[in-house]
Amino acid sequence: MKTVTVKASKQYDVLIAKGLLQQAGERIAAVHKCCSCMLVSDETVWALYGERVKNSLENSGFTVHTFIIKPGEASKSTDNLILLWETLAEKQITRSDLLVALGGGVVGDLTGFAAATFLRGIDYVQIPTTLLAMVDSSVGGKTAVDLAHGKNLAGAFYQPHLVLCDTDTLQTLPDSIFADGMAEVIKYGFINRPALLQMLKNTNPPIEDIIALCVEDKKEIVEADERDNGCRQLLNLGHTLAHGIELNSDYTVSHGSAVAIGMVLITKAAVKAGLCRRDTLDILLALLKKYNLPTDTEFTCEQLCEAALEDKKRKGGFITLVIPVETGKSELQKRRIDELPNFIGGAWEEV
Ligand code: NAD
Ligand code: GLY
Repeated sequence: MKTVTVKASKQYDVLIAKGLLQQAGERIAAVHKCCSCMLVSDETVWALYGERVKNSLENSGFTVHTFIIKPGEASKSTDNLILLWETLAEKQITRSDLLVALGGGVVGDLTGFAAATFLRGIDYVQIPTTLLAMVDSSVGGKTAVDLAHGKNLAGAFYQPHLVLCDTDTLQTLPDSIFADGMAEVIKYGFINRPALLQMLKNTNPPIEDIIALCVEDKKEIVEADERDNGCRQLLNLGHTLAHGIELNSDYTVSHGSAVAIGMVLITKAAVKAGLCRRDTLDILLALLKKYNLPTDTEFTCEQLCEAALEDKKRKGGFITLVIPVETGKSELQKRRIDELPNFIGGAWEEV
């Protein structure tokens, strides 16, 4: 088993191994006293793994209530948040109780935000079941729901108590959802891990190793800048445009696919502006193709820039962009928002 310990406003372990679901009860009992817990999942994940986790929790002495949402981004909603709060109140969950998120990033973000806000904060555990959630969303304490105006517009920084990544669960992931996670893995490589890119290009490394490398990376970044005022913004590589793609597609383009396309667009724009070498773009395109990820979009520069300016990454008249400057190295650049269409427009020109 691989263990990564995150030391942020709260210290917690991220455990990565096969077979952790059936050990969930004992693993959680080792870090949290026995209590009532609300196990949150979506219908698909619940059907596959719900009983296994519920039984494990009950065998370790936890009283388990359940809250099951429909799968998909539309469930990361204020409606579900309110319903979850009301269910927690109805089941008389107290501050010494626990929320457990069993699922992908949608379940994790919603549960984390409910935990951050119910009774002004109760503990929660993340049990991510998608690759994306294992390498990114379950670690670092960003929690949120979406608003009609955009993704993640209401949320909180609130660290989990424990993260259990059972890599057996990846066996049931549809290929396209596994590929979404690989987009975030490739993102880590282009931010600051040329060695990870080399590994992905040349070999088929064990998935536990890939997850551990990404979590190590995220740990370092979160410990340095938990509240996203500095280097944590590097994790948004490709995301400013990705959120526009998701919004414009009415969330029919998944987060991972949108991040893949967003990384291509920002890298093309950087190449066009003379900030990045062409071979970095070629390496990115080759890796995304190798892992079956999309590289272009039907949306226009105007559509994506408009969405980017509504994004929470905008601060007054400025927006911070993550610009790849070479293979395995990206930088933050603050730009005036009136410069954005011209700069991003480079991605729609020949590079
Ligand atoms: P998701 O939670 O919607 O899961 C994708 C699909 O996979 C769902 O249909 C789900 O039912 C299914 N699924 C999950 N696990 C499965 C399994 N083991 N076997 C079979 N099917 C399974 O999507 P996601 O890609 O995990 O997460 C995307 C969300 O994460 C977005 O809302 C995004 O904004 C958020 N996110 C948050 C952070 C953060 O730091 N908090 C970081 C990145 C992404
Ligand atoms: N996924 C971006 C972050 O955690 O900051």
